[in-house]
Amino acid sequence: MRTIEGSHGTHPFRAAGSAGGRFPLEVYVAVPDGTSLPPGVHWYDPMQHALVQAGPAPRGVAPAVIVTGVPWRTGWRYRERGWRHVYWDAGTMLAQLLALADSAGVPAALYTRFPDAAVATLTGADRVHEAPVAVVSLGDGPPALDPAGPAAAGALDAAPVEFPLVTAAQRAGERDRLGEPWDRGAPADVPVHASATVDAVVAARGSQRRMDDTRGLPQELLRTSMSVALRGIGVPHWVAVHDVEDLAAGIYRWPDLEAPTRPGALRDELHRVCLRQFLARDAAFVTIAAADVGRLDDREYREAQLAAGLAEGRLHLAAYALGASASGMTFIDSEVPELLGEPLDALLFTCVGVPAYRSTAGGPPGAPSRVRMVTPRR
Ligand SMILES: Cc1cc2nc3c(=O)[nH]c(=O)nc-3n(C[C@H](O)[C@H](O)[C@H](O)COP(=O)(O)O)c2cc1C
Repeated sequence: MRTIEGSHGTHPFRAAGSAGGRFPLEVYVAVPDGTSLPPGVHWYDPMQHALVQAGPAPRGVAPAVIVTGVPWRTGWRYRERGWRHVYWDAGTMLAQLLALADSAGVPAALYTRFPDAAVATLTGADRVHEAPVAVVSLGDGPPALDPAGPAAAGALDAAPVEFPLVTAAQRAGERDRLGEPWDRGAPADVPVHASATVDAVVAARGSQRRMDDTRGLPQELLRTSMSVALRGIGVPHWVAVHDVEDLAAGIYRWPDLEAPTRPGALRDELHRVCLRQFLARDAAFVTIAAADVGRLDDREYREAQLAAGLAEGRLHLAAYALGASASGMTFIDSEVPELLGEPLDALLFTCVGVPAYRSTAGGPPGAPSRVRMVTPRR
């Protein structure tokens, strides 16, 4: 949707955010016979904005969007931590996909429990350098995931290196049958409504690189964005409030905004916990998804990371729809229990604040807009 000319050439950006801008995801559409769409398993080529047939039509009922992850694409930079990025990024992307399906009136159901080996066969993924992450059925009925034959193995980036811990963690959560789709949750009752279309908000969204720390945000914006972001999501969230109308600074356990669980000015602490990144200091509020991951099984761990990414993607859209700005944010794991005052593991942070500049809107698929790089404050 946007491109930047950098020292290494043209850097393309997608519609959804990606931890470190590594974009480790691939997307396929599995279309069975008997619908109005061309049957087959089609790989989405984002540069050409085209669907390329990769395999024969799957057996089953509803067309399915399949998201896979390529660990090396983020692991070369972030090593094993990149495995979490795959799930966070799947969440930010699916936040947009589900919102667009809803706005287009297409029933869409998210599945994160599926037969991994069958889905890998459908897409030509080898479950080491590329592995299935999530499935969304479009239309009524279960997703068509039964392969009628092998798919072409796509060419991955040159000589990817395997991260054995990533392979082991991914394999540990594998299942052999389809589970229930996610409960999408009831529509949120919110104090503020946005008028822009989903397409316009997606085009406007970018990760804000600089926020104005002299200005805060209305409490209604916080309530609205948290309510829509957490619709149907069970992962607990906290909010570190720096500057929100009628709320004292401190840590709150959403949805309780009556009193902070840890009062006090936290800008400097957030700055430190987020690896001295100024966005976490300059935002009006920072949301924190956290859980006791030791209580989760291997599949639930994947789901918790994806749920945190889904919430981050929706917070991001809500912020732009309501005139604010946002960015995903990484953190130092070991600092989070002290920050929250509870012995929990952080999943993901999102900074929401007043933009210090306006980003150029992204172009439609296939016609990206060229933008200049804005770097975060250092
Ligand atoms: C899960 C996630 C974590 C992120 N973490 C950080 C971060 O720690 N610091 C930062 O400056 N940007 C962070 N970002 C923003 C990305 O750098 C940005 O999404 C990516 O470069 C693509 O740009 P865009 O969002 O403007 O399209 C994060 C984004 C996501 C989705």
